[in-house]
Amino acid sequence: MIPQEIIKTKRNGGQLNPAEISQFVRGLTDDSFSEGQVAALAMAIYLNGMNVDEIVALTLAMRDSGTVLNWQGKLNGPVVDKHSTGGVGDKVTLMLAPMVAACGAFMPSIAGRGLGHTGGTVDKLETIPGYSCTQPLDKIEQLLPQLGCVIVGQSSQLAPADRRLYAIRDVTATVESIPLITASILSKKLSEGLDALVMDVKIGNGAIMRTVDDASALASSIVNVANGAGVPTRALLTDMNQILGRTAGNALEVVETLDYLTGKYREPRLHQVTLELGANMLMLGGLHKDKASAIAALEYSLSSGKAAEIFAQMVSALGGPVDLLEKPQQYLASAPVVQDIVAPTSGYLNYTNTVGLGMAVVRLGGGRSHPSQQIDPAVGFSHILAGGSKVQQGDVIACVHAASIEAATIASAEYLAALSIAEQVTAAPLVHHIIG
Ligand code: URA
Repeated sequence: MIPQEIIKTKRNGGQLNPAEISQFVRGLTDDSFSEGQVAALAMAIYLNGMNVDEIVALTLAMRDSGTVLNWQGKLNGPVVDKHSTGGVGDKVTLMLAPMVAACGAFMPSIAGRGLGHTGGTVDKLETIPGYSCTQPLDKIEQLLPQLGCVIVGQSSQLAPADRRLYAIRDVTATVESIPLITASILSKKLSEGLDALVMDVKIGNGAIMRTVDDASALASSIVNVANGAGVPTRALLTDMNQILGRTAGNALEVVETLDYLTGKYREPRLHQVTLELGANMLMLGGLHKDKASAIAALEYSLSSGKAAEIFAQMVSALGGPVDLLEKPQQYLASAPVVQDIVAPTSGYLNYTNTVGLGMAVVRLGGGRSHPSQQIDPAVGFSHILAGGSKVQQGDVIACVHAASIEAATIASAEYLAALSIAEQVTAAPLVHHIIG
């Protein structure tokens, strides 16, 4: 069938069959569909949607556009991963990978870079000198059985169709389509050869999906399609109405991860989300029957030092220093200007615009406004007080880390503009609900 017939079917609200979807994905990968044709079909999908069968076919064809890792007979435990739809200060993958590995699971995580206001795991890891997220597949295949977890970036060998489709969606106002987001996320995740997947679908004023209804629709789509593609999947809808943890910014988040793994400090909300996601990974992977025993195993991975040890091994295996955990200050960049941000009045902290906080990190230089931009690893916010905290006028509510006094002044003003000091605050539930 010629491309315009496929486009016409979807433009007229029809259903595409698996052969038509395969042809589209082949056209994406070998460039036989022009950019205009891909954009037209993406817009037709955006406007007219896809049913579960179509999204499963699209996901599998995109997954199969590249290599699919195959762990059969090579590992003595389940292969599990988690994926977050993106938030501010979300460094959970960094702690969860060594924790679930210490509990007997294997996590081959293909992570992303920052996108818009959201931070990216790859950008965080690359603040560690020498750590390389660009690894050949055979290195991942060699390291996963030894370490239990490997966190790297997307390679051109895994789901290449998504790279071209994503780049075209990005410039044609077709990103916010549930079928296209579902196929994009899952084609990459399923190329890891998973036995189980846990999704962290963020809801709130720092998330891509702002409302419970939108987040639930995305979560249901991902769970139905992943299960339809044969990978048991569960989605936790978690709160993103404030920064997760007490830092936002790449190297600052690595420091928070090290503090978490070594037991120096564990911010309670970050700890709870990490345990909830980890427990579901261990249960879905068949390692634990109930949540209490899964959480006890995760807690033990921390208290025994095993998770910290695995993180250190992963860092050095992927090119980073062998003694990062002992001497983080020696390796991680720090900003020349660090200033307190203080409460302008007394009351309870209420973060009203967490996207604004993410954008403040981007403007400090911690994210990108165009794809080729270098990021400044050292900038961001630390010592962030949780939403709902009671403060007195003049109390320090966060610190800004910046490249200059001017940048720090602007970012402090942006931080204060993203919150209110209220007489009362009703906290949103941390785990809103679970689908799957
Ligand atoms: N993340 C992805 O990988 N793809 C999307 O479409 C949206 C978020």
